[in-house]
Amino acid sequence: MPDKLNLKWIKAASYEEMSKIAADLFMEQLHEKPESVLGMATGGTPEGFYKEMVARYNAGEISFVHTKSFNLDEYVGVDPKNVTSYHYYMDQNLFNHIDIKRENIHVPVGNTDDLATTALEYDAAIAAVGGIDMQLLGIGVNGHIGFNEPGTPFSLGTNVVELTESTREANKIYFDKLEDVPTHAITMGIDTIMKSKKIVLLISGASKQEAMNRLRSGEITEDFPASALHNHGDVTVIYTGVK
Ligand code: F6R
Repeated sequence: MPDKLNLKWIKAASYEEMSKIAADLFMEQLHEKPESVLGMATGGTPEGFYKEMVARYNAGEISFVHTKSFNLDEYVGVDPKNVTSYHYYMDQNLFNHIDIKRENIHVPVGNTDDLATTALEYDAAIAAVGGIDMQLLGIGVNGHIGFNEPGTPFSLGTNVVELTESTREANKIYFDKLEDVPTHAITMGIDTIMKSKKIVLLISGASKQEAMNRLRSGEITEDFPASALHNHGDVTVIYTGVK
C-alpha cells in the first residue's frame, strides 16, 4: 500500500505565501546548521522563494557564508554565461545578491566534452560534503523532478537525459522559439535527489493540477518521477493555485 501520508502537505493561500513558507523552512535549516548543503532548483516556481531569501539576507536575518549549494540541473550544450543557462538564472535570482562563496556554488556544467564524467563527479562532490541537507524541488507538468522525465529508473544518479516535448514546450517561454530549447540536460538523478536529508517541493498554478492529483494518489511508478518521493521520509509539499 503506497504511503501517501509520508508527504507533509501545506496549502498556501497565495504564491507569496508559498514562497515565504519555503523560505521559513530554509531559514530554519540555516539557523540550525549554518554550514548546510542546500539543493537548489530553477524555473518559474521558485523565483518568489529566491526573492524572499534575498530580502531576508538584506534584512540581516540569514547568512550563506558557510553554506554550500548544488543545483539540480543544467541544459546540455549551453554555456554557463548564456542568459538561458541555469548558471545565469541562479546568479540573477540568488547568488549575485547573497554572501555565499563562489567556490561553494555547484551547478552541473552542460557544455563539457565528457558529460558522463561530469555527472559522476557531481554525485561524488555531493557525497564528499556529506550530502544535501535540504533540497528544493519544483515539478514538471509530466511529473518530472529535476529533469528526470517519465520512465527514468529511480536508481539513477546524476545523468544526461533527453527532454520530452512537453518539457521543451513548457520551457520555450525562456527562448525565442521552440527549436532553440535544448534537447538534452544533465540532471541529478532520482537516486541523488532521494539521498537528500530533507526535501521541499513547491507546486504552483493550474498547469500542475494533473501532476498534483497524481502525486496525491500515492501511486509509486517510474512513469511518474515525483512519485519516488513517497519513499522518502522527510518531504514537505507546499502548494498553491492547485486543488
Ligand atoms: C528546475 C527543475 C525542474 C522544474 C520544473 C518546474 O531546476 O529541475 O524540475 O522544477 O520543470 O518548472 P517551473 O517551476 O518553471 O514550472
